[in-house]
Amino acid sequence: MRDNEEGARAAYRVRFDTEPELIGSAPGRINLIGEHTDYNGGFVLPCAINFRVAAAMGQGTGELYSVDFDEARPSGGCKEDSWVDYPRGVAWALADAGYTVGRFQAAFAGDVPRASGLSSSAAIECATGVALNDLFGFGLDYKELARLCQRAENRFVGVNSGIMDQYASLLCRRDAALLIDCRSLEATSVPFRLEESGLSLLVCDTGVERELGNTGYNDRRASCERAAQELSVDLLRDATLEDLDRLRGVELKRARHVISENERVLAAVEALKRSDYAGLGRLMYESHASLRDDYEVSTRELDAFVTIASNYQALGARLTGAGFGGCAIALIADDAVEVLEEAVISRFAEAGFGRPTFYVVQPSDGAEVVQ
Ligand code: GLA
Repeated sequence: MRDNEEGARAAYRVRFDTEPELIGSAPGRINLIGEHTDYNGGFVLPCAINFRVAAAMGQGTGELYSVDFDEARPSGGCKEDSWVDYPRGVAWALADAGYTVGRFQAAFAGDVPRASGLSSSAAIECATGVALNDLFGFGLDYKELARLCQRAENRFVGVNSGIMDQYASLLCRRDAALLIDCRSLEATSVPFRLEESGLSLLVCDTGVERELGNTGYNDRRASCERAAQELSVDLLRDATLEDLDRLRGVELKRARHVISENERVLAAVEALKRSDYAGLGRLMYESHASLRDDYEVSTRELDAFVTIASNYQALGARLTGAGFGGCAIALIADDAVEVLEEAVISRFAEAGFGRPTFYVVQPSDGAEVVQ
């Protein structure tokens, strides 16, 4: 059992004076490439990471307890802008879809950094989802569960996010990235054996916190919808680079990012299949430039990290997740990681930015129920 699963179990015992019936466990994710494409029906290529949220659960009082916040809240109720909105939202989405969610109690423990673009919200939703699914015997497969968790985020929490985070948290496999076609919702594992390649995936958390609800996320989504409408397509996935001649202003820039990013994801999959990590890295740099210039979701900190990474031999680097703060990733040789970290710390200090935090992550297994 992983540490946070043990932690959730121990907290459950103390809180409820009994053993949990089961423990749902789900990871956060990084996205290798394919940003802001999911809600346009496009392609994404995330990996689950070795940071997770665990939900120790049983039928019972209706109390939910968070180890990380040291706080207990009722499982039912409205949105209240706290951690409990995620498990509550999932219970609501299941009930709304016709599943009978009985009274349950749970203790949550996790180590996914929050508000930094590593999908801590999907991790808590999916840990809750797999646990409730087993506890009440709904028999939902993980793709259906992902859609219900996304619905919880869209309708209960109120962030109009796409399907990437919940799919990644539920369906990723160890040593692999997950190619998701966000229109057909088909998902394919693409082997990504980092350890064998002598490369690391370094995450730099810039410490600039964001909650998607308070950013330009929903606004970006709306401009994509306007662009699709102007081009008379349902989703920007169906538009091509030639179509861009028919757009202007903000819609042109947003659509140019989305259309070119979809092409980069497919090229990245081909590069991974050939173990062409240099090729993958170039696509990551291009993705970042497009997110910075056309999608305008980068920050000075994220841009600085990517520039420093390129000066310190990273094969590729880019912001990961929605942007507006949060994390960037670099694909870099194992023995160059420390030097890059030191350089970033000192350049950030010189620039007056906050102190960044680093994590070396492994492509990891998706959600599961552990007994
Ligand atoms: C957030 C959302 C995802 C996706 C990314 C941007 O993580 O939750 O659905 O849109 O931003 O790629």
